[in-house]
Amino acid sequence: MNKISTKDGNLIFGGCNTVELAKEYGTPLYVISEEIIRGKCEQIREEFLYKYENTRAAYASKAFLSLAMCKIIEREGLDLDVVSGGELYTALKADYPTEKIFFHGNNKTIDELYMAIENNVGRIVVDNLYELELINGIGEDLNKKTKILYRITPGVESDTHDYISTGQKDSKFGIPLNENVIFEAIKNAINYKNIELMGFHFHVGSQLFNNNSHLGAVENVMLLVKEAKERLGFITKEINTGGGYGIYYYEGDTPKPIDYFTDSIMEKIYEKCNEFNLDKPTVIIEPGRWIIGEAGITLYTIGAIKDIPNIRTYVSVDGGLPDNPRPALYGAKYDALVANKANEEKNNTVTIAGKCCETSDILIWDLKIPSIESGDILAVFGTGAYNYSMANNYNRIPKPAVVLVKSGYSEVIVERENYDDLIDKDRVPDHLENLESTTCEIAN
Ligand code: LLP
Repeated sequence: MNKISTKDGNLIFGGCNTVELAKEYGTPLYVISEEIIRGKCEQIREEFLYKYENTRAAYASKAFLSLAMCKIIEREGLDLDVVSGGELYTALKADYPTEKIFFHGNNKTIDELYMAIENNVGRIVVDNLYELELINGIGEDLNKKTKILYRITPGVESDTHDYISTGQKDSKFGIPLNENVIFEAIKNAINYKNIELMGFHFHVGSQLFNNNSHLGAVENVMLLVKEAKERLGFITKEINTGGGYGIYYYEGDTPKPIDYFTDSIMEKIYEKCNEFNLDKPTVIIEPGRWIIGEAGITLYTIGAIKDIPNIRTYVSVDGGLPDNPRPALYGAKYDALVANKANEEKNNTVTIAGKCCETSDILIWDLKIPSIESGDILAVFGTGAYNYSMANNYNRIPKPAVVLVKSGYSEVIVERENYDDLIDKDRVPDHLENLESTTCEIAN
């Protein structure tokens, strides 16, 4: 975890006093540090892009995306992975260079594919043969040839939560490495007029602390590369090795530096190239969480404090499951600090509850904190990834604002939703506007 800095007992983040941020922008509040994001991108450049020739790094925007985030990623020289029309639309609206976009997804719609091909996205990462047909047909219609990668299912298990493990054979993602399937698929792609197959993609899982599954996947994909050359004369130009590098959330997490993953991946790819006498492909990585996760914190205001004698103390905050569904979904663990009592001794153990009508809406079990009172500000760490991007309006709770902090300055990059936003898309059919007829029906 990044070192915590404090001033006058208040938590400082991105050079900003978090208690002041809470006052100025309200809570719950996502706070994102531009410096941390940029620092991560710099590490990727130094440890991977500059270290190895023919490499690319795409930010997996599903972790966190907004127009401002696109601008940061563009300035940092990274590519962008999008996985839906909405993410693509955001990138287009931010004028993100489309040739640097990888378009993913296991069930892209026809409209999404038109949008991608019309806008000349750099690569479509094709998940299945239905999609291949669609792309070829749309290419015919628009007179465009699309560069694609095949997403393959590498057939490896990962040491992570089942819900974020993607490389196993029984997965909805990718084309199975079954010889009756994959070589046919490659043949089709080679023969299709409006498609240029560049290579292969895999993604083994997320929040990983070891490289076992990445290296297992590399072994399998390199065998495919060899066989595809021998059987079909197909030369693989690109291999995209996905993301998945874990970050620190909670004690016991053991995140690794980026080169722990990238050095071993590159070593294995090059070793296999030598062994099989293959040209070195361009290698792409695609981290999301690793870039943005630790760059975010969420500020909440503490409300009700409920002590159940001899059982537990529930401390409720003004957000929870809608702004961070990860504890409820994956049993994810977070660490937190009382931002206005950052230096005080932590002599109490409490459970941080969200405000939803949902028993699973517990943000943190058994957190050590100082003596607290309603109105204190709680800062939850490591919420940059898969929090704002997975936020929802359960219980019709508006989504928080996102504030970008840098060297003591702060600026809103996503405005807070208000109640009008919540009903903005609601429509009332005419017959329900007429109260009299409704009353009659009930009376009868
Ligand atoms: N590339 C592909 C094709 C992916 O599917 C993903 C994540 C990534 C890259 C980036 O993975 P990362 O580096 O962020 O681990 N909602 C879950 C995470 C789902 C990840 C899905 N795919 C969570 O909150 O933990």
